[in-house]
Amino acid sequence: PTELGVAVLGMGNVGAEVVRIITENAEDLRARIGASLVLRGVAVRDLERGRGIDRALLTDDPAALVRRDDVDIVIEVLGGIEPPRELIRTALQQGKSVVTANKALLAEYTGELATAAAEANVDLYFEAAVAGAIPVVRPLMQSLAGDKVQRVAGIVNGTTNFILSAMAETGADYDEALAEAGRLGYAEADPTADVEGYDAAAKAAILASIAFHSRVTAADVYREGISSVTAEDLASAAKFDCTVKLLSICERVVGDDGRERISARVYPALIPLSHPLATVSGAYNAVVVEAVDAGRLMFYGQGAGGAPTASAVMGDVVMAARNKVYSGRGPLESTYASLPVMPIAQV
Ligand code: NDP
Ligand code: HSE
Repeated sequence: PTELGVAVLGMGNVGAEVVRIITENAEDLRARIGASLVLRGVAVRDLERGRGIDRALLTDDPAALVRRDDVDIVIEVLGGIEPPRELIRTALQQGKSVVTANKALLAEYTGELATAAAEANVDLYFEAAVAGAIPVVRPLMQSLAGDKVQRVAGIVNGTTNFILSAMAETGADYDEALAEAGRLGYAEADPTADVEGYDAAAKAAILASIAFHSRVTAADVYREGISSVTAEDLASAAKFDCTVKLLSICERVVGDDGRERISARVYPALIPLSHPLATVSGAYNAVVVEAVDAGRLMFYGQGAGGAPTASAVMGDVVMAARNKVYSGRGPLESTYASLPVMPIAQV
């Protein structure tokens, strides 16, 4: 194909940045993909609000947009379980590749959706669902596929890290810091998901599933949030050269019966200021992966926010698009086969 039709479901914090990148980077994306990405429509709830794009592209009927024959790739950045679950299933069944940032959905339904994708021989990609801009899903699923991952641990929620850092570093008030995280586009539509640890538990379930090649859902993850962490707790921690971080820890453990099990848990933990995770501030995330042969790897970067998350979404879109253009050859080979030559700077 010379062009691929794209439907963007949602134009909030993430969707607006996805639409911006598709528009602004059109030329580069065409060169990388080998075909143009053409925006067929953007689904929103409120059609009246100005969005800075051609109004004819807006629709409040995502189901009709997904079903259009000229849509090849569906980007789901709506949030929530329904309608995204039904929309993604329909898209996959109709042979469209899907990119989603929806960790709440994936933490419950990855199995069902991945089966639909496999049956239709299309892609279901979700790098943006864990740790925003940080590439951690693909490294676990691909780069480490020949190794045995023992542990994946770190900070995977930007909102709670933003709140805890602000409280510890500047003495900020919990409620004000939470409101600011909402204004900056880090928090979920219902921030209870962030502060009570549900969002981190969903991410832990996804990480444990892909790291340990198993099926772990959010309900399997032990969960405690940060809503009961007080300024006094942080002050006491500081007296012992420690701080408090919301940690997500997934690991293989051996039970009393000698059988291997998966342990997954999310809770606010006291960590020494000298620990690398203590320096992760604001909406940044960090994930430490321990594998038998690779040893310890650390992934660090912006874990929330419209543009960082859209970066991860668009990486997936390029991969899915290339798979459609170069069917059978795989995205990496075709990238290297078509690299343009750039002039080399003199040092
Ligand atoms: P927002 O709440 O900012 O945006 C949601 C968008 O979806 C809005 O444009 C809204 O329309 C639209 N929408 C919601 N329901 C419907 C519906 N039924 N029909 C049509 N349109 C609908 O969310 P975010 O952009 O922050 O997040 C989107 C997804 O990305 C979520 O799954 C979230 O968990 C995930 N995510 C978010 C990150 C972040 O940092 N924000 C990071 C990683 C993942 P309208 O504009 O009219 O209200
Ligand atoms: N609300 C989420 C967070 C968005 O704060 O980490 C990124 O997944």
